[in-house]
Amino acid sequence: MEFITYEQDGFVGVITINRPKALNALNSQVLEELDAALDAVDLNTTRALILTGAGDKSFVAGADIGEMSTLTKAEGEAFGKKGNDVFRKLETFPLPVIAAVNGFALGGGCEISMSCDIRICSDNAVFGQPEVGLGITPGFGGTQRLARLVGAGMAKQMIYTARNIKADEAYRIGLVNAVYSQEELMPAAKKMAAGIAAQAPIAVRNCKKAINEGLQVDMDKAIVIEEKLFGDCFETEDQKAGMGNFLEKDKEKKLKVVPFQNK
Ligand code: CAA
Repeated sequence: MEFITYEQDGFVGVITINRPKALNALNSQVLEELDAALDAVDLNTTRALILTGAGDKSFVAGADIGEMSTLTKAEGEAFGKKGNDVFRKLETFPLPVIAAVNGFALGGGCEISMSCDIRICSDNAVFGQPEVGLGITPGFGGTQRLARLVGAGMAKQMIYTARNIKADEAYRIGLVNAVYSQEELMPAAKKMAAGIAAQAPIAVRNCKKAINEGLQVDMDKAIVIEEKLFGDCFETEDQKAGMGNFLEKDKEKKLKVVPFQNK
């Protein structure tokens, strides 16, 4: 792959969008490689992913404006679908994904971070949906996910005005969970990922599914989704080991046994 690197660090996979000359902008090739990188993740040996951008200036500065500049209506729609398909794969990926936003997260960059489960950022991060200034709408899910994350009023203000916001404001409106110095960002992301990886993996996956799928339906249907996924856990070794260790008051055993069990 030319623009995506993948590193495995224990149970944690780190995907880096690596096109620093264009501030990691997303062209078709980057999107295709990201899609292939997700397909290649070994779900048996990986429990959490981190997504970040190469360099210390930019996470992702958006979809590639050069590539988009000559698109026809049909090509524009197809390009939107290409991004949306990959971002949806990320959003529904069986494992939790943490976006470690290390700089500009504009347009498609903000949108890809919103397809991740959790966003944390460095203090030089800048978020925004500047598309209307380019004569287009946010096209990789921004009109949908931003409103769901920060509320329709704030999303509309950001999108209609094309105004970028800094890390502290992103934190204030709930777009990111925490802000770190540039040096602390990746260690913090890895620490969080390791904390997730130390839990029962099937239970964590079922939580992601329950939250994501439950948010798409009304509460009566949502709790049925939860009940099914809750029930599924009782077929796992993790549930037997985790609860058994608690009842035996064996915290050491819990640490040793639970993380290595799979369905
Ligand atoms: N597409 C293509 N190339 C990009 C890019 C993008 N989105 N963002 C930056 N680059 C390129 C620049 O063209 C430049 O390349 P050259 O060195 O070959 O000229 C290189 O990256 C460095 O960029 P700058 O010189 O502009 O760096 P800067 O520090 O002066 O400014 C910036 C940084 C404020 C992020 C500025 O690059 C910028 O505004 N980029 C565009 C941001 C944007 O509008 N993103 C939204 C795109 S539309 C979209 O994403 C649609 C969608 O929803 C699907």
